[in-house]
Amino acid sequence: MFPNVDFTTTQAYKYLADHYITLNEQSLKELFAEDPARFEKFSIQLEDILLDFSKNRINDQTVALLVQLAKECRLSDAIEAMFNGERINATEDRPVLHTALRNQSDRPVHVDGEDVMPKVRAVLAHMKDFTNRILSGEWKGYTGKEITDVVNIGIGGSDLGPVMVTEALKAYKSRLNMHFVSNVDGTHIAETLKKIDPETTLFLIASKTFTTQETMANATSAREWFLQSGASEGDVAKHFAALSTNAQGVAAFGIDTKNMFEFWDWVGGRYSLWSAIGLSIALGVGFDNFEELLRGAYAADVHFRTADFEENIPVILALLGIWYNNFFDAESHAILPYDQYLHRFAAYFQQGDMESNGKYVDRNGKRVEYQTGPIIWGEPGTNGQHAFYQLIHQGTKLIPCDFIAPAVSHNPIGDHHQLLLSNFFAQTEALMNGKTEEEVVAELKKAGKTDDEIARLKNFKVFEGNRPTNSFLIKKITPYTLGSLIALYEHKIFVQGVIWNVFSFDQWGVELGKQLANKILPELRSDEAVSSHDSSTNGLINRYKSWR
Ligand code: F6P
Repeated sequence: MFPNVDFTTTQAYKYLADHYITLNEQSLKELFAEDPARFEKFSIQLEDILLDFSKNRINDQTVALLVQLAKECRLSDAIEAMFNGERINATEDRPVLHTALRNQSDRPVHVDGEDVMPKVRAVLAHMKDFTNRILSGEWKGYTGKEITDVVNIGIGGSDLGPVMVTEALKAYKSRLNMHFVSNVDGTHIAETLKKIDPETTLFLIASKTFTTQETMANATSAREWFLQSGASEGDVAKHFAALSTNAQGVAAFGIDTKNMFEFWDWVGGRYSLWSAIGLSIALGVGFDNFEELLRGAYAADVHFRTADFEENIPVILALLGIWYNNFFDAESHAILPYDQYLHRFAAYFQQGDMESNGKYVDRNGKRVEYQTGPIIWGEPGTNGQHAFYQLIHQGTKLIPCDFIAPAVSHNPIGDHHQLLLSNFFAQTEALMNGKTEEEVVAELKKAGKTDDEIARLKNFKVFEGNRPTNSFLIKKITPYTLGSLIALYEHKIFVQGVIWNVFSFDQWGVELGKQLANKILPELRSDEAVSSHDSSTNGLINRYKSWR
C-alpha cells in the first residue's frame, strides 16, 4: 500500500526541529574543521557519477535523523509500490511506470494483470526500425529525397526532455538536423519553417493526449505548409509521424496509424522521454545511443531500489532538499551545470520538479501546513556566475545549489576545460567558506588602502559563506551517464513527493488557465467590447482589440 503519512507528525520531524536549532549555530567551515573525513563520509559514487554532499549544513546526526524521517514516512513501501505498478497516481487512477520503459531485466511489470514489457519492447523495436530507415536514407520523402531535417512538435513533457537530451548529447549527433517547436506563438513555427525544405523534412507530432492546443495548432500549420509545397494528402504519411497514447486522435488528424509510436497512460508527460516521445532523441543521436540512455537510467533505478538510504543518491538529494525547504525555509533550489551541452537541464527539471511537487493539497485532500516543492531554476556555469551568483553569495536568501560538471570534455580546446572546472571547484568552496573581515582587511591593506578606506569598504567585501551545495562530478557526459543522472533527479522528486505526502504525478494546476483561455478565445474572434470579466481583464482585452 502506498503510504499516507504527515511527516510533521513523525518523531524524526520533532528531533530534526530541535537538531536544526543547534546545528544552525555551526558553520560549514566549523563542521569541516571538526570532521576531516566529511568527504569520504558524505559522498556516494554510482559508476561514473560521484555525488559529494559534504558541503551541506549537516553532520552524522542530521543524516541519521533524515533517514529516520524517510523510514517513518515508509519510503521503502512507496518505492516498491511505484516499481510494482500500483495505482499511485490516485487522482488520475493510474500506475506510474516510466521505470518499465527502461527495464533491462527479465522481470515482468504488471498493469491490471498484464505484463507490459512485451509492448514496451515492441514499440522500441518499431522505433529502432524507423530510426535506422530514416538515418540510412532508405526512407524517402515524397519527391524521392532522403530526410535531412526532423521537427518535433510538442510542448511540456513532449518537448522539454527531447530538447534537453538532444542538446546534452550533441557530441553524438546523427546526420539529421533537429528542430523543436513548442510555443503556440506563430513565431516559433514560422522561424523553423524558414530553415527547412518540405521535401526533406519529417514532422513528429508529439503529444500524449493529442488534444493539446499548442501542439495541435502547430501541427495543423505544419501540415498546411507541407501541402502548400505541392505535396498531396497521400504524401503526408511520408512526412508526418505521431508519438501518442491516443490512436483515435492521431487518425482523426490524418496521420497513418502505421506511423504512430504508442505509449500508455501510465507514462507521465514529464517522465516520457524514455517512451516513444524519445523518438526525436533516437533520430538525433542514433538508436544505439538512445538505448544507452535507457541503460544508464536502469542502473539508476536499480541503485534507487536497492541501495540503503544513507548510500542512495536520490534519497539523500531529496532529504537534503527537505532539510533546507522545511527547516531552513529555503524557497528555491538552483541547478548549475558546468557543461554547455547541459544548458537545458535546469529548464527540464523546472517542469519535472515544479509540475510534480507544486501542490498545496495532500493525499487526504487537505491543505498542507508546510512548504512543498521548491522553485527550481538555473543556468549553465560560468554564465550564471556573471549574472545571478551575486545573490547566491551575498543575498539575504539561502539558495541550496547543485553543481554538475564532467571531468572529461567532448571539446578539449586549449585550456578551456581546466578554466571551467577551476570555476566549478572554486564556487562551492567560496560559497562554503566565504571571506572573513580579517581576510578582507588584510587584502585591502596589501592593496595599499588607508585605514579610512578600509573602514568604509570592508563590510561590502565580506562574504558570510555557509551556503550549502551538492557537487556532481561525472566522468564524461555520455548517453549512459546522462540517462543515470536524469533518473536520479526523477527519483529525488518522487521521494520528496512521498515525504510531503502530495500526489506527484498529476498536474491539475495547469487546467484552470487552459479552461479560461478556451473561454476567452471566442471573445477575441469578435470585435465587440467585452464586459464579462473583472475590470483588469476587460480593460486588457478591449485595449488589445483596439490595437490589433
Ligand atoms: O502542462 C501540462 C501538460 O499536461 C504536461 O504535463 C504535459 O507534458 C504537456 O501538458 C503536454 O501534454 P501532451 O503531451 O498531452 O500534449
